[in-house]
Amino acid sequence: MARLGLPTVFGVLLALHTATSTKLVCHMTNWAQYRPASGKFTADHIDPFLCTHVVYALATINSFNTLIPTEWNDEDQYKMLNNLKDINPLLKTLLSVGGSTNGISPFIGMVSKPENRAVFMKSAISFLRTNNFDGLNLDWEFPGQSGSMGSDKDRFSDLVAELDEAFVQEAKDTRKTQLLLTANVAAFLPIINRAYDVPKIAPHLDFINVMTYDYHGHWEARTSHNSPLFKSSIDSGSQLQHNINSSISHWLSLGAPADKLLLGFSTYGRTYSLRGSDSTLGALSTGAGEAGPYTRTAGLWSYYEVCSFINGASVNWIPEQKVPYATNGVVWVGYDNVQSFAAKVEWMNSKSLGGAHVWTLDLDDFSGVFCSEGAYPLVTNLRNSMGFPPKPTAPPRPTTTKDPIVSFCAGRPDGLYENVADKTTYLQCFNGITYVQRCQPGLIYYDACKCCNYP
Ligand SMILES: *[C@@H]1O[C@H](CO)[C@@H](O)[C@H](O)[C@H]1NC(C)=O
Repeated sequence: MARLGLPTVFGVLLALHTATSTKLVCHMTNWAQYRPASGKFTADHIDPFLCTHVVYALATINSFNTLIPTEWNDEDQYKMLNNLKDINPLLKTLLSVGGSTNGISPFIGMVSKPENRAVFMKSAISFLRTNNFDGLNLDWEFPGQSGSMGSDKDRFSDLVAELDEAFVQEAKDTRKTQLLLTANVAAFLPIINRAYDVPKIAPHLDFINVMTYDYHGHWEARTSHNSPLFKSSIDSGSQLQHNINSSISHWLSLGAPADKLLLGFSTYGRTYSLRGSDSTLGALSTGAGEAGPYTRTAGLWSYYEVCSFINGASVNWIPEQKVPYATNGVVWVGYDNVQSFAAKVEWMNSKSLGGAHVWTLDLDDFSGVFCSEGAYPLVTNLRNSMGFPPKPTAPPRPTTTKDPIVSFCAGRPDGLYENVADKTTYLQCFNGITYVQRCQPGLIYYDACKCCNYP
């Protein structure tokens, strides 16, 4: 696909990393705004420097095959989200389209005829441009599943190829940066096989979010982890494939390029009510644990609800799966923490995957009020363990201040500049605003290459 490279500023920074994992794609949901009190999350809670991409979930498709918002205030939230690009010009935003009506995906009718697909593509491009998004995220769960026919595997391939062609053409016509095209895809092997013609879709997608979570939950009779890295010795039959290693290995064996696959990281856990006194992995369960006070969904807790619970609970590590669970009384929760994220990052790097995607920002302790680990403890740690440079801190807008750093960029062209006061940092100017960026530990900034390097 025809595409401009990443902006040089970013390229220079990334050249200092050895890992190929260069994307940190974070999802947010437009239903998180309805959680009470400190659980309420809107797009203005997003840290513009935390992720490389933010995906806004969720838009949908109406019966006229047109892309439409799903919430009364979506357009306000789109503005909040896309205004973050004024603060971090490297941030990319995508709109996710999916959902279902009575369990039926709106993609089914839309892909069924070339004319319907053409209407959708036209509406999607116009909607994305009007609202200042950088791309589209297809969230059809799943072709060939839940009322979708086997032939939808080919219809999905057609849709992806046609969208790519339309995005290339639109970028040529308007001389704008081409819109990104991405998809959220299944992690279960039988669903992958039914849903995707991988060699046909992969070349047209910028990245592929493999939803490597929800492997296990209260719908099963025994406790097991939501998002294990490997199989456990108590797994049998098809359960042997319910883990990250099996899913990603399968995507790779079907021909997906490693650098387009993004590993899914969950900022939530799945809970069970224990049947008896056994509280180990594989203990008998009677069903979902009680709903959390903020997410209010039986069987699922946000990380910030988990972290209140583990205070006083017994916390255990599953060595063969590299993930933790916690238990107290009849409650059992399998969740992710800094250690399991680090183990997954190490594995992700060993497979040279393109990066990580996170479901979701709003389920992490986004404000830091619950866990006392700072804001976004899981995603911040993920970012750090992926080797991204520390986040820049945006100084206040250069209004009346006389601070020489804050006003440095006033009247200067966009670009990178030396910070004579501190060589371990440098100054990035964008639209007259100064951003102080920090080199990786041990490196200093050289203006000759506009890069950080060893002293
Ligand atoms: C990871 O998956 C591959 C492919 O299925 C398999 O051969 C390998 O044994 C798995 N590794 C572990 C530690 O389970």
